[in-house]
Amino acid sequence: MPLIDISDAKPGMILNKDVEDGRTGTIFATSGIVLSTRIISRIKNLGTKYIHVAKLAENTDNDKQEIVSEDKEIQIYHKEFSNKTKNLLNGVKMGKKLIITEISDTMDNLIDEVTNSNNILGKLRQLSKDDDYTFEHSVKVSMLAAMIGNWLNYSQSEIKQLAYAGLFHDIGKLKIAQHIINKPGKLTKREFEIIKKHTVYGYNLLNETIGMNKNVALSALQHHEREDGSGYPQGLKSFKIHEFAKIIAICDVFNAMTTDKPYKKKVSAFEAAEYIERSSFRTLNPKISRIFLDNIATFYVGNTVKLNTGDLGKIIMLNKHRPTRPVVRVNDEFIDLLKNKKIKIIDVIS
Ligand SMILES: [Fe+2]
Repeated sequence: MPLIDISDAKPGMILNKDVEDGRTGTIFATSGIVLSTRIISRIKNLGTKYIHVAKLAENTDNDKQEIVSEDKEIQIYHKEFSNKTKNLLNGVKMGKKLIITEISDTMDNLIDEVTNSNNILGKLRQLSKDDDYTFEHSVKVSMLAAMIGNWLNYSQSEIKQLAYAGLFHDIGKLKIAQHIINKPGKLTKREFEIIKKHTVYGYNLLNETIGMNKNVALSALQHHEREDGSGYPQGLKSFKIHEFAKIIAICDVFNAMTTDKPYKKKVSAFEAAEYIERSSFRTLNPKISRIFLDNIATFYVGNTVKLNTGDLGKIIMLNKHRPTRPVVRVNDEFIDLLKNKKIKIIDVIS
């Protein structure tokens, strides 16, 4: 197991001993991962001078190695982040204070992955599942929100606040009975009134948290408000809703629709996108919806999709003004979904 100077490390090499983050005492990179340019530069930033590596990975095609290692990277950071956040939230459930510094570094790593990835939606699909729907949903909303913040050219610190806003948007649900939160099927009127309170509970909790930006608390309060005033808890109209809360609302709807629940089957990203497009005339913010839809659609060009006709096809190109209705090639036929309104994409295969 050779020991090498970090300046001699190359993408594609396999780490053979854990690298620790001396500041926090946690493991930064685990043995067995394939090094990428980004991991190498982060290890350098830790001040680590030497690392143990195994022999080069079998396939030394650098581009391929880079893709493999970046996929692994996001999984590692997601797992570490999920574990730490879960501990933190379990503590809050038991009455402990929320201390965000406990997850701050891992949050930075994850944001870095999300904002530098050119296929974050594909990667989100591959991340490990969690039995706790609200928890898994919150982590994904956090990552989607960071992604939108990046597209809106937010600063690094704003993107981080937005990621916290996504992560904690439903934190008020910790104060509501689990049998109501996890109830399969339709809620009674009374149960829905109780659920609505998670916005206010979340706001109060986050507002009392030391070091938490006020906009994060406002997002928890306002993420169910809608542009036309039809939302809750205050029935605010567009100009009174914070932009963070508008972003979280879109991520919340998109991820909820594209995730399987015991009582509701998921729909494809394209169906969810079309729903957001329709809603942007009334309930969701049109500017943010547009940025979201334009950008996510480009991820899917080249992907194989299943149509409601039963055919499999490949997305060939996007229609500029309707990114949710692309041109799909099925065998030798090109189907323009803008002209064939009855044809829908019901699943993204790869
Ligand atoms: Fe919510």
